[in-house]
Amino acid sequence: MADILDVITTRKSIRRYKPDPVPEEMINKILEAARWALPVRTINLGDLLSSVILKQKNKIGRLARIGSGSRMTAWYCLGDMQERFTKIEDPVRRAEVLRFMYSGEVSEFAKNAPLIIAVIGTLMEGSIDVPYDLSAAIENMLLEAHSIGLGACWVHGPVATTRDAKKFKEILDIPTGMGEYKVIAYVAFGWPAEERKHPRPKKSLDELVYWRNSEGRKGLIMNKMQYCNDLMVRMEELFYHELSDCAPFKVELVGVDFIQSREIKGDSTEGIIQSCIREIKEAGLVKEIEYNISGMRIKLELRMKDCVHLPKEARLRRSGVKPYICPIANMILDQLIEKLGYETTYIARMDIDEETGECKVCSAIYENEEQIGKVCNWHEG
Ligand SMILES: Cc1cc2nc3c(=O)[nH]c(=O)nc-3n(C[C@H](O)[C@H](O)[C@H](O)COP(=O)(O)O)c2cc1C
Repeated sequence: MADILDVITTRKSIRRYKPDPVPEEMINKILEAARWALPVRTINLGDLLSSVILKQKNKIGRLARIGSGSRMTAWYCLGDMQERFTKIEDPVRRAEVLRFMYSGEVSEFAKNAPLIIAVIGTLMEGSIDVPYDLSAAIENMLLEAHSIGLGACWVHGPVATTRDAKKFKEILDIPTGMGEYKVIAYVAFGWPAEERKHPRPKKSLDELVYWRNSEGRKGLIMNKMQYCNDLMVRMEELFYHELSDCAPFKVELVGVDFIQSREIKGDSTEGIIQSCIREIKEAGLVKEIEYNISGMRIKLELRMKDCVHLPKEARLRRSGVKPYICPIANMILDQLIEKLGYETTYIARMDIDEETGECKVCSAIYENEEQIGKVCNWHEG
């Protein structure tokens, strides 16, 4: 049987459409996909998947603009929206994006969609699963649309409040009371007129899944990295409490098991460091690492971005302890000793910037005894 994962992982919300109509056989296919998500006891599909709206698109677009614009205007006035968009550096572009949002235009796109399917549940007696059944139907429609080359977007915001849902029912000319029909969402479809090459980034499985083992007890932890960091924070706190500034002298082996389990090769300092960096990055422990050797070849500076241990450092700092264990630096220093016979190594300084996700770890690496005592100004490189 064909694996549908390709269709799932390449689907993305499309909000701009070409004016060309969606052929009827495609509409039927989309509705058929919805039908297969619905449970047997569902009485009447016609009741559940209401009108394929062709004439009322402008009214729906307006409803969406006012609904989302009213919320976003307030969000902007509170300053929260600006904060979320600080990543857009160009002030003109940022202002343009913000205006697009608070004017509500961002949500108006349905008016240009050649096809909108309103998804409305019938509140028949005993109907308890309506939103869930219909959400499954929506997902099936999105996937079918994507698999036949159409773009689509699930839209709930404009019909989320009771009043807006009522207005939506008025547009569709269906009873507006609360006891008969429940508006779940509408879905806009059309031929894509926007190039979104990649689906939106999603969280990793580790962040999303809470595993249980076969006995039903808590097994693997939802986020193993967080669990590991939490353990480390507790240990580092306790250790520091016991030994204060002597604690950093005791932890040079923390982290080395990982690197010792890999095949690190190289016959020069640079070769060994690069080989370690490759393994560390490949394992997903740090996204980016740059290194620099200076200070009469005693100073090794590692600049890292998005290290999995960064949350540990941040938490530790909040609890009043200056972070002192860098498992990543320990790995590299360990391999210099193990593979090249370095005399000794020492982590001299750790600087962590929680906001940028960067850390800078400065170590002293002594290839041989003669280097000990050779001083220079490390700030000058
Ligand atoms: C329950 C639900 C409600 C949504 N409502 C809206 C909406 O009101 N307006 C909109 O533009 N997109 C809406 N979306 C689409 C999401 O913004 C979109 O799925 C999300 O950003 C992830 O992007 P992707 O679909 O490209 O992976 C909705 C999606 C879901 C699942």
